[in-house]
Amino acid sequence: MLRGVHTLLTSIWVVRRKKVCSVAAGSALLRDEELVKRILDAVVNAVPVPVTLKIRTGWDKQNKNAVTIAQLAEQAGIAALTVHGRTRACKFEGHAEHETVTLIKQTVNIPVIANGDITSPEIARQVLQDTGADAIMIGRAARGNPWLFQQIAHLLATGTTLPPPKSDSVKSVLLQHLEELYRFYGDLTAVRIARKHIAWYLAQAFKQPNTCLALINQAETPAEQIGRVLYAFDSLTNL
Ligand SMILES: Cc1cc2nc3c(=O)[nH]c(=O)nc-3n(C[C@H](O)[C@H](O)[C@H](O)COP(=O)(O)O)c2cc1C
Repeated sequence: MLRGVHTLLTSIWVVRRKKVCSVAAGSALLRDEELVKRILDAVVNAVPVPVTLKIRTGWDKQNKNAVTIAQLAEQAGIAALTVHGRTRACKFEGHAEHETVTLIKQTVNIPVIANGDITSPEIARQVLQDTGADAIMIGRAARGNPWLFQQIAHLLATGTTLPPPKSDSVKSVLLQHLEELYRFYGDLTAVRIARKHIAWYLAQAFKQPNTCLALINQAETPAEQIGRVLYAFDSLTNL
């Protein structure tokens, strides 16, 4: 498995999402190809592990330079490249495009991973077919839905679709996820972090607005939170 050091181009993104443009980090760096080259060379030469890179398609729609950056990445010794099919200026608006990945695949030989708005097994298969990408990366669609990966693998392997998970499976995985959150973050922080995850899992299980969420969000302890989650599953399953 590639043990990627997610380079400055992406890792600063999380911590300083609002600041990446003012400090020329994150996707803002795409504007300065020479600096990208220097950073990639420096990182690849500084560490003994494979370095992977994740980029957007360019600065804005008029300045899509992902193909050039991909070439620089390959020359620098980057082990694999992920491309989110939006420009920096697109933020998260509109739909991701994957034509840029097709172009990159025709230009470089390192593994290329397509990313952006891949939300179902069918879309995953289409993107892989259309682009020739070596893999796909999924972000938001996996929130509360870890079953998505298995569903994609199944479609790719068999051409048939797996049924959605039963609410009992969703409940059991959610409870396990909650226990891990409490263990990792400690009760106080975990209860707060867990709220968004609970909402995503419930949306996955019930495909409808959840009237129990307000009550769940007021829980202050793991025991309260779990009790209210169980109540939500019981009451919604018995509708
Ligand atoms: C909560 C969250 C955290 C993210 N963190 C990072 C990150 O650390 N580095 C990065 O390059 N992209 C990050 N992204 C962007 C995603 O990796 C991905 O490129 C984007 O969400 C588009 O893919 P999707 O449509 O599958 O979500 C993050 C996105 C979300 C929603």
